Amino acid sequence: MRWITKITQMLGCRYPIIQGAYTAFGTADLAAPVSAAGGFGIITAHNFTPDGLKEEIRKAKSITDNPFGVNFSIMPRTSADAIETPTDYNEYIDIVIDEGIKTCFTSAYKAKEIGNRLKDNGINWIHKCATMKHALSAERDGADAVVIVGLEGTGYKNPLQNTTMVNMVMANRLLKIPFIAAGGIGDARGFLGTLSMGAQAVYMGTAFMATKECPIPENFKRDMIVNQDCFDPKMYERLYHHKLKDSGTPSMAVGVIDDILTVKEFIDKIMNDAERILRSWGFNSDCFDTTKDR
Ligand SMILES: Cc1cc2nc3c(=O)[nH]c(=O)nc-3n(C[C@H](O)[C@H](O)[C@H](O)COP(=O)(O)O)c2cc1C
Repeated sequence: MRWITKITQMLGCRYPIIQGAYTAFGTADLAAPVSAAGGFGIITAHNFTPDGLKEEIRKAKSITDNPFGVNFSIMPRTSADAIETPTDYNEYIDIVIDEGIKTCFTSAYKAKEIGNRLKDNGINWIHKCATMKHALSAERDGADAVVIVGLEGTGYKNPLQNTTMVNMVMANRLLKIPFIAAGGIGDARGFLGTLSMGAQAVYMGTAFMATKECPIPENFKRDMIVNQDCFDPKMYERLYHHKLKDSGTPSMAVGVIDDILTVKEFIDKIMNDAERILRSWGFNSDCFDTTKDR
């Protein structure tokens, strides 16, 4: 089945599946296999020096001809727990321009300047945020699309954050630009559910952490994701409270991740399961196209 959405068209990928940004392990080793398998992989810039980012982009290009992106995480400096990200990403942006990267993501904090510089150079700018207010302001600032992370997802929490379901339903009413669902997604049901709520792609962090290519220890994948009980009260303490220092904790997506698969096996599983579900609902077309949805 062919999958066409406003985001597959914008990014040039086969499936509307995007791999999240990560501090520490958002590298070519994970991003390139995701893009090679038809999704869209992301290299996280602040894991590298500018020269290191150039090498990493070239490494990804040596693994796949498919497009991949770069994330610029911009953290507010108000918390002692906040990770350090470069205050000035200009040198990094020079590199993504020189290397011909076509789509970049910004995340977390005010990204207008970076976004405008990307757009001035013909690069798609997608901003990731946690609230509808910030999604609307990214739209006003000129973002081409937004990722909205629900409360059940991993990441820095905002006291005004909503769940993925509320985000998608409201984004569909309030935003004009395409939006991408993130937060607690890890299987075909979450994938199809958010597309039906108006999302043009899904963006997954925890789920890709459990893949074989993700360069983190095997026992973390097993103990903290595959075998993690999503109903454990400790999960709720970590995820649903405004504790910045726990922002890297696996999300509610652990509830649907049953195995450690290769990136390709994982993406194929979602797409095959999604197709099977659609067929069981009586969907007969060979093309799933959300571009005329609204
Ligand atoms: C260990 C870890 C580190 C992360 N680091 C970053 C980061 O540096 N920048 C960023 O924008 N998002 C970061 N994220 C958030 C993901 O990119 C993504 O938004 C989030 O995982 C989506 O929710 P999900 O885990 O439910 O799929 C991180 C997530 C995890 C699990």
